[in-house]
Amino acid sequence: MSQPPETQPTEHAPTGRHFHNLALIGFMGVGKSTVGNLLADTLGFELIDTDKVIEQREGRRIGEIFTHSGEAYFRKCEATLVSELASARGKVISTGGGMVANPRNLENLRQHCLIVCLWASPEIIYERVKNQTHRPLLQAPDPLARIRELMQERTPTYRDAADIMVGVEHRHAPEVARHIAKSFHDASKPRIPGNALTTPIGSFRPSAPKVP
Ligand code: S3P
Repeated sequence: MSQPPETQPTEHAPTGRHFHNLALIGFMGVGKSTVGNLLADTLGFELIDTDKVIEQREGRRIGEIFTHSGEAYFRKCEATLVSELASARGKVISTGGGMVANPRNLENLRQHCLIVCLWASPEIIYERVKNQTHRPLLQAPDPLARIRELMQERTPTYRDAADIMVGVEHRHAPEVARHIAKSFHDASKPRIPGNALTTPIGSFRPSAPKVP
């Protein structure tokens, strides 16, 4: 019987890296937590939602952390948590949208994760988050402008960081999760010399964001 991917320290097809876990990255509101939950079930992995872990550790919501201790403190909490995950096995790590903006966090995740970026346009993200109040960075007078600005800053990082980019605009979370699970299994297959790499179905590389 073949071993599950997390116990096969082989060279993996699309990345050339060894990974035992899957990290979901991407902008606020793209659905990382929802997809992460479904993926964890599908893969039989444990979900680590970094925002939730930080809230549990701190005993307060992200908004309160930003208000009372500042964003820099929150970023330290993120960095500490990521460094602790170095020996993780069989985890789906759903990251906060700003986590991979710190190159050290990205470097740490790349040591052990297949990195999957969920992507949607600023307009769709705005529609998804406009009635939510728990994201301090979007409590701005013009949230859509803020989303466009932050996405413009972050898109190159997301694009460079991702092994796989998945557009989520026209898909429901279960379909996104199924697609990623398949990509993860494909990516876990040992590289066969001379074989073409599998192109993940429906993978999506966004163009540079439009300047409004
Ligand atoms: C942030 C995203 C949030 C949370 C915090 C900062 C960001 O997580 O970590 O509010 O910098 O993009 P989600 O991406 O889960 O909303």
